[in-house]
Amino acid sequence: MQEVASDIYYVGVNDHLTELFEGLWPIPEGVSYNSYVVKGEKTALIETVKVPFVDEFLKKVEEVTSFNIDYIIMNHIEPDHSSSLLRLLEKVPNAIILCSKKAEGMLNTLYRITENIRVVGEGDTLDLGGRTLTFFMDPLVHWPETMITYDNQEKVLFSCDAFGSYKALDFGLFDDSCDPDIFFEETIRYFSNIVAKYVKYVKKAMEKLEGLDIKIIAPAHGLIWRKDPQRIIDLYIRLSDRMALPGVTVIWGSMYGNTAKVVNHVVDGIKEEGVPVTVLNFSKDHLSYLIKETWKYKGVILGFPVYDGGPFLNASYYLHLIKRKDLRERVVGFFGSSMWSGRALKQAADQVQELDWEVVEPLLEFKGSPSDEILEQAKELGRTVARKTKE
Ligand SMILES: Cc1cc2nc3c(=O)[nH]c(=O)nc-3n(C[C@H](O)[C@H](O)[C@H](O)COP(=O)(O)O)c2cc1C
Ligand SMILES: [Fe+2]
Ligand SMILES: [Fe+2]
Repeated sequence: MQEVASDIYYVGVNDHLTELFEGLWPIPEGVSYNSYVVKGEKTALIETVKVPFVDEFLKKVEEVTSFNIDYIIMNHIEPDHSSSLLRLLEKVPNAIILCSKKAEGMLNTLYRITENIRVVGEGDTLDLGGRTLTFFMDPLVHWPETMITYDNQEKVLFSCDAFGSYKALDFGLFDDSCDPDIFFEETIRYFSNIVAKYVKYVKKAMEKLEGLDIKIIAPAHGLIWRKDPQRIIDLYIRLSDRMALPGVTVIWGSMYGNTAKVVNHVVDGIKEEGVPVTVLNFSKDHLSYLIKETWKYKGVILGFPVYDGGPFLNASYYLHLIKRKDLRERVVGFFGSSMWSGRALKQAADQVQELDWEVVEPLLEFKGSPSDEILEQAKELGRTVARKTKE
């Protein structure tokens, strides 16, 4: 049994099978579905796991509760949290499900569950006998029905998708059982892929939590923060304020190598300014990582050729996605090769200006292979963007 705090147990599982989270986002280091048992005189279970892992989950739940469960608290109905519910109810048919009003409807549409549901609202409490849980509605982090649960006795915040991360808990459950820095990149990737679109609501949720005494943050995915919960709170505040780090992400694509010739020169310019640089490729690296790095660093330099009168196709998709993810306020430079008609870089620059990105001129569009002058200008572009990220 894995105890999180006094009479609070971990019954979650690690997923190393799923290749794409939500069918979209690669998770080469896996992900965890964290579920918890809270015991007073009565016993509550907080959420379930994705159904391929239901047998392992039920075994753990049985060990901790012998299936004496009075309440099942469903903070969120996305199937990575809820799809084991029907199997669980076979074991505990009389348990009462607590969830938000919107979640009640979703339980019906997804699973035809309509009985033994108690709808809770903002600030409602559940007395377990000896300890009380309080519910806070947290709409749109990550769905409109989502809520979070707070244990008043041990000051544990069961924060659902907020404060979550990709990466399975292979190194222990807690920020004191591993170096939490190993979760840094995967937390940003999870945030930028999954939660970022709802950043306004993340901020609202954070404001709501301000007065709350939080000793432990127990999210639905990733590390449990009990040594230093402020650390994940600070990271989430920074991410939701779009406070990017000084540094530049260079993302490039090339069909025949002409645009490619410029990349090292841009990177040299960035390095001269002494800021970190990540180089990614539109064709080889998954968009999940392109978005993550773009969320992380203030500077972006995009290099791609003209293709059918517009940006290289993968670059177009990236430009579309940063808009869908509402990724605002970056400093950006462009370079790329064309043959007969240019203006692909101009099209891209116009697109990012809608997101309040500052475009560094000139747009380095050149015919065929880059001249020495272009290569010199590319280095200068690297320097300029890098410098601006330090301001
Ligand atoms: C399928 C395809 C479509 C292209 N469309 C355009 C175009 O609309 N306008 C243009 O100026 N060049 C166009 N080109 C030419 C490339 O932009 C040009 O060859 C460029 O140098 C390729 O850069 P790269 O070597 O970095 O791939 C196209 C090339 C290909 C293969
Ligand atoms: Fe979710
Ligand atoms: Fe989730």
